[in-house]
Amino acid sequence: MSRKSELPNVPKHVAIIMDGNGRWAKLRQLPAIAGHKAGAEVARKITECASQMGIQYLTLYTFSSENWLREKSWIDDFMGLLRLYLRNELKSLMANNVRIQVIGDRTLFAKDIQELIKDTEEKTKNNTAITVILALSYGSRDEIVRAFRRLAQKVKVGDIDPDSIKDKDIAMSLDTAHLPDPDLLIRTSGEQRISNFLLWQMAYTEFVFMPILWPDFTIKDFESAINEYQQRNRRYGLYATA
Ligand code: IPE
Ligand code: IPE
Ligand code: MG
Repeated sequence: MSRKSELPNVPKHVAIIMDGNGRWAKLRQLPAIAGHKAGAEVARKITECASQMGIQYLTLYTFSSENWLREKSWIDDFMGLLRLYLRNELKSLMANNVRIQVIGDRTLFAKDIQELIKDTEEKTKNNTAITVILALSYGSRDEIVRAFRRLAQKVKVGDIDPDSIKDKDIAMSLDTAHLPDPDLLIRTSGEQRISNFLLWQMAYTEFVFMPILWPDFTIKDFESAINEYQQRNRRYGLYATA
């Protein structure tokens, strides 16, 4: 089934802060990991729906650089689930023609997870239905620091003149080089903040905050966020017209 034709002005790139898994589990007196498992199912469903709508890029904030500060047992459980997902998901990613890319500081993950990430990216790299960017061990300030280091290194060896640095050079030094900026950001759970996500890239992104815990988020909710985006008038600093 294609949802494409009904929707004019479909965003090219949607980013989602998938928040509220812990609260969802707590409300049900379940361990936090049950919330993340339910959340992973929702991510799968939304990916399929986004692909059918003709959205080309979907960035999912999955694990932030600040999430490393949570307690060890939580991190261990989360890493277990990530391993499982990376191991078991390949078949359905191939069947659905989904290309996976990862942004963030992957060097902080255990070696086997780093291998699984590399393998998933490599095996899905020619898939064309949708590109799903998983933000893993991702923090925008951390990404900008790493970009500054890369640029400073180039200045040091004389590859670039500091006075010639343009915004494009900075964009191209980020993990998201070659990706378009997000058109729409959705954050679930009711929090109205961006929690160190894509600070540079979201200069002109439209924001939709929804008071729904991520595991409860449905295709209908996703469609209503897209619909809200389609009513927005993006101006990029120009004056408003009627
Ligand atoms: C979001 O769920 C997913 C993350 C890995 C951070 P949380 O674990 O943040 O859930 P809440 O916000 O505490 O409910
Ligand atoms: C943002 O959620 C990160 C992810 C969804 C992966 P958090 O739950 O970590 O953010 P805060 O702590 O509410 O700002
Ligand atoms: Mg949270």
